[in-house]
Amino acid sequence: MHEFLRNLPKVELHLHIEGSLEPELMFALAQRNGIELPYTTVQEAKDAYHFNDLQGFLNLYFQGMSVLRNEEDFYDLAMDYFKRAREEGVVHIDMHFDPQAHLQRGVPLEVVMAGLLKAKQEAEDNLDLSIGMIMAFLRDRPAEEALHVLEQAAPYWKMLDAIGLDSAEQNNPPVKFVEVFKRAKQLGLVRVAHAGEEGPANYIKEALDILDVQRIDHGVRCLESDVLVERLRSEQIVLTVCPLSNVSLKVVEDLRDHPLPKLLAEGLKVTISSDDPAYFGGGMLTNHIACADAFDWDEAVFRQITRNAIEEAFTSPGRREELL
Ligand code: ADE
Ligand code: ZN
Repeated sequence: MHEFLRNLPKVELHLHIEGSLEPELMFALAQRNGIELPYTTVQEAKDAYHFNDLQGFLNLYFQGMSVLRNEEDFYDLAMDYFKRAREEGVVHIDMHFDPQAHLQRGVPLEVVMAGLLKAKQEAEDNLDLSIGMIMAFLRDRPAEEALHVLEQAAPYWKMLDAIGLDSAEQNNPPVKFVEVFKRAKQLGLVRVAHAGEEGPANYIKEALDILDVQRIDHGVRCLESDVLVERLRSEQIVLTVCPLSNVSLKVVEDLRDHPLPKLLAEGLKVTISSDDPAYFGGGMLTNHIACADAFDWDEAVFRQITRNAIEEAFTSPGRREELL
């Protein structure tokens, strides 16, 4: 089974590129940019990656990305992950990135975009890897700021596959961003949002009704509402589930308690992603192997999950045909 999973061409719909920053690269970039880290060794950083909840993780996530300052840092960050993912048999990645987390440190949007777009181009040209771009807004920051960043991103609208919504979910309901998502829709931009990771099932409903999203990132708490489950099933709305993330952030105690088998049994359009692989114990292959071991799934289950992801990936019809 492990060999099958290694060879399976995998499609990742939910990856925060800043969460792919491995401690080794974090140290290299810190040195290159003269930035001091709160760790003295790679091992010390890794030892700190134990979280009680989403906020505990986000604190280290924002601290880690402080080493990203110049275009080449964003390029190195993305290429480092793309190469690793390719080695794990990944063929497509829809990549979230968080402009506000960089703007607030004085890193211009142009620097972020130039580095990420260069890496995307190179991956598509040389690695047989297709990349989708999801510009995400931080939901624990004001909606006005998100709206401003969306306007500021005008030169890049054509290069975005979607906008997203991430960061601390509790007490930051989707409705807070109604104007931002309305504007994005007006611009013809596709919308996705994290919902039902730590937040209640009602946030998933809100994201669908008020933000008109095409995709729910995580969504595992949908099972708390039968009405919602019925809707997700009948509309076949894709859930980008991140199993090892959910264990690391204590959404579930143990992977064997994860609702993934139940979500599948309910007929929902489930996919598997790594979320923040540098912080949650591994990338796509590790997540797939962990699921195989925890749930005893056969090859057909992984084929279905992969097919779901291919159908929903932000890519051209030609590339989709190639992947199917
Ligand atoms: N940003 C990076 N990873 C995240 C996650 N798992 N949930 C919400 N925001 C995030
Ligand atoms: Zn996420």
